[in-house]
Amino acid sequence: MENLKEKMQEAAMYITSRIGEEPVLIGMVLGSGLGDLAEQLEDRIYISYKDVPFFPVSTVFGHKGRLVVGTLEGKRVMCMQGRFHYYEGYGMDQVVFPIQVMHALGIKDLLVTNAAGGVNTSFKVGDLMLITDHIKLIADSPMRGPNYDDLGPRFFDMTGTYDKSLMAIARKEAASLGMTLQEGIYMFFAGPSFETPAEVRAARILGSDAVGMSTVPEAIAASHMRMRVLGISCITNMAAGILQQPLNHEEVMETGELVKEGFGNLIRRVTRQWPF
Ligand code: HPA
Repeated sequence: MENLKEKMQEAAMYITSRIGEEPVLIGMVLGSGLGDLAEQLEDRIYISYKDVPFFPVSTVFGHKGRLVVGTLEGKRVMCMQGRFHYYEGYGMDQVVFPIQVMHALGIKDLLVTNAAGGVNTSFKVGDLMLITDHIKLIADSPMRGPNYDDLGPRFFDMTGTYDKSLMAIARKEAASLGMTLQEGIYMFFAGPSFETPAEVRAARILGSDAVGMSTVPEAIAASHMRMRVLGISCITNMAAGILQQPLNHEEVMETGELVKEGFGNLIRRVTRQWPF
């Protein structure tokens, strides 16, 4: 059928028909454990992914698979409660389609959160990490294929993908909450296996502080469209081989549960101070 632009428009038109014309200021992708924040929006409107034209459907346990639009700290935001992961079998183009639809809706800023494995041995389980940059050496780019020049250029600069002014707000708000906010480089792995200990050592040598299976495709698509991105990881576990204990999804979910209140508070504060 249609090309990407037409699909974006059709999805955006459907969402507008549900939420009205009032502008949405911030798109939020809420990772494992953080989805609850979306339930705290005022005047919530829920839109199932399955109802949005061309949206894929989320399959992962623990992810609800819907958009939640409403007001947080006085700002109108759109949360993705559950995201699409490459490891689920979606193409990178499908993984980032919701971000492109946010752009079609006029959203200019994106907050992405995730669960990640700590690679930097000074990190502790439960720490939050401001993503200052990322490394993606594997898997194709979400921008592979025909380029839509009015979305962004064919070849685009990734310097400054993670916005400095948004990072500054996150640092300041974390400090005022008395929270430790680590900073570092997030390295993308395709999953669904966790990394091997050797891959984690390699990731460290390459300069990464955390590893995970999400966020980077969304950040690339957002950067292509010149959206500002703020990324925060929750270090739900130390990456493979560091603590000499097996990794499992339960640990990831458990840490997410323990941290979600503090993480949610930080996001609220950052949203309140969000610079437009
Ligand atoms: N590796 C990759 N993704 C993850 C991890 C990890 O150790 N923890 C949470 N998400």
